[in-house]
Amino acid sequence: MRAPRASWGAPAVLLLLLLLLASGSAHGYKPVIIVHGILDGPEQFKNLSGFINEVHPGTEVQIISLFNNCKSMKPLWIQVPEFRKVIEKIMTARPEGVHVLCFSQGGLVCRAVLSTSPNHNVHTFISLSSPLAGQYGDTDYLNWLPGCVKKTAFLFCYNKVGQHFSFCDYWNDPHHRACYLKGNTFLPPINGEIPHQHLKDWRENFLRIKKMVLIGGPDDGVITPWQSSHFGFYDSNEDVVEMRNQAFYKNDTFGLKTLDARGDVSVCVQSGVKHTNWHSNFTVFKNCIEKWLI
Ligand SMILES: *[C@@H]1O[C@H](CO)[C@@H](O)[C@H](O)[C@H]1NC(C)=O
Ligand SMILES: *[C@@H]1O[C@H](CO)[C@@H](O)[C@H](O)[C@H]1NC(C)=O
Ligand SMILES: *[C@@H]1O[C@H](CO)[C@@H](O)[C@H](O)[C@H]1NC(C)=O
Repeated sequence: MRAPRASWGAPAVLLLLLLLLASGSAHGYKPVIIVHGILDGPEQFKNLSGFINEVHPGTEVQIISLFNNCKSMKPLWIQVPEFRKVIEKIMTARPEGVHVLCFSQGGLVCRAVLSTSPNHNVHTFISLSSPLAGQYGDTDYLNWLPGCVKKTAFLFCYNKVGQHFSFCDYWNDPHHRACYLKGNTFLPPINGEIPHQHLKDWRENFLRIKKMVLIGGPDDGVITPWQSSHFGFYDSNEDVVEMRNQAFYKNDTFGLKTLDARGDVSVCVQSGVKHTNWHSNFTVFKNCIEKWLI
């Protein structure tokens, strides 16, 4: 009686182990949701997805395919609800929680999704060279507008027409603060720089995350000032004021100070990385990302 049982039991246990390993659940790595930036799409994140599965085999990586390439110029308040729908669907299926890794403009999309999702279960929010405090610098995105340079972009951006272009939603001209606060309908409410009825809820929702990781560096070449990737930004003299001296930090308008006091803001500065290389650079992945994807 005993012998047959034993010979059946060992292969069964082995099979079970193999199945667990294959599904990745033996490690319990949380799924990683990736949100792309302006003028790119899922295609650009294949390397990153490969890095993740190289170090954490079996991790479910979902690169959201929405508003790709030229469509990424659509207003952020049009994009956010669509991204939220897809992200919520993934989260509902994964009650143990997920991580979100958001690149460039995607970092702002993710922040807005987090702030407007009351029941999200995002564990770690990784922002990869995102203009979190805004953008003020000549970039390729301005060149196609005739005569539009950083000094005059506010004229175009801070009104109903301009706000139909995603980059105007985070255009932050330090010389036209009043126009920014009044005419930019995206970043000021997200940063809590203007009063609005959802401030308290959005702050609470945002603070459901366990950890925020801010990645950026001085050789980015697009994000201006590059410290915006860490919530730093220009004052009216174009001197960079670091995160902890920003009014939105001091007033804790969207939860940043609370998160920092909890010890849950991690900053990773990397030199020698151009903007479009952040997600394909294995050193950046090893130094700044790998350890959070557990
Ligand atoms: C921060 O609070 C101070 C004092 O209450 C106020 O004057 C200032 O406008 C606030 N700034 C922001 C960005 O909310
Ligand atoms: C990759 O990142 C490292 C720093 O993390 C940097 O020194 C190197 O220049 C980068 N390489 C590329 C091709 O971006
Ligand atoms: C990214 O992947 C492509 C092919 O999948 C490869 O040719 C390229 O060298 C990779 N880039 C990096 C920086 O690993």
